[in-house]
Amino acid sequence: MHTAPNSTAPALSVLPTAEEKATYVNQMFSTIAPRYDLMNRLMTFGLDQGWRRWAARTIAAPGATHVLDLGTGTGDFLPILEQAMPGALVTGVDFTYAMMAAGQTRLERQTRQAAFVNGDALELPFTAAAFDAVTTGFTMRNVADIGQAFREMARVTRPGGKLACLEVARPKNPLVRWGHQLYFNNIVPIIGQIVGGNAEAYTYLPQSASIFPPPPELARIIGAAGWHTVSWKLLGLGAVAVHIATRNNADPSPSNHQAIPE
Ligand SMILES: C[S@@+](CC[C@H](N)C(=O)[O-])C[C@H]1O[C@@H](n2cnc3c(N)ncnc32)[C@H](O)[C@@H]1O
Repeated sequence: MHTAPNSTAPALSVLPTAEEKATYVNQMFSTIAPRYDLMNRLMTFGLDQGWRRWAARTIAAPGATHVLDLGTGTGDFLPILEQAMPGALVTGVDFTYAMMAAGQTRLERQTRQAAFVNGDALELPFTAAAFDAVTTGFTMRNVADIGQAFREMARVTRPGGKLACLEVARPKNPLVRWGHQLYFNNIVPIIGQIVGGNAEAYTYLPQSASIFPPPPELARIIGAAGWHTVSWKLLGLGAVAVHIATRNNADPSPSNHQAIPE
């Protein structure tokens, strides 16, 4: 993973080392779990569920029976995946118990048969080729080894199965980028302090985003981890990138990386 913040990162870094990362991330999400959904809706002006719906519709496989959401948190993706792939058993996996506990009531009210499973993205507790499709939302910034997480997602997805990965990105338009940086680096930590009672977690968010691989580089990482036909679409004025890919067959074909026009 990348360890050196670029020049846009605020001076006072809260970023953990690769060795500390899992413990740091687990503790941070345990602390913010009760206010996590509210913070998401406020920070994204309510747009985040639309991004998840776009991703789910894009990878929806007719006849899918098993779908995984990796780093599911409070399980925002689970009802959306059930709607996109009716009849599929949807499983959300996460290593922060408190996040899944915070989403348990919604899981019971809004899904038919979705389930939470405790597990680590770097060593998933599932057999090979168990899923028809996998999603991961805003989680890859938080893992200590991005390549290993995509290899694990490839291992548990059947050949030809689909991947959708949502992550924060930096808008390309200079004016939008300037406004986004101002908002993300300065306003979001204040909202995090007021609403979530935790400014550090919402300082970690823009700082971890500032060192996350940009979309073309992330596409290369995904392509090297057992996926082909990797593409991405920028949503939210370029503040979010959704990467879409297809699981390689046993003999991986060369990857073809391309952006989907906005
Ligand atoms: C920013 S939240 C995203 C939650 C949800 N996917 C969403 O879209 O709102 C990141 C989640 O990833 C989980 N996570 C981070 N690293 C993980 C790992 N190595 N294994 C499993 N879950 C992990 C965290 O516990 C947290 O719930």
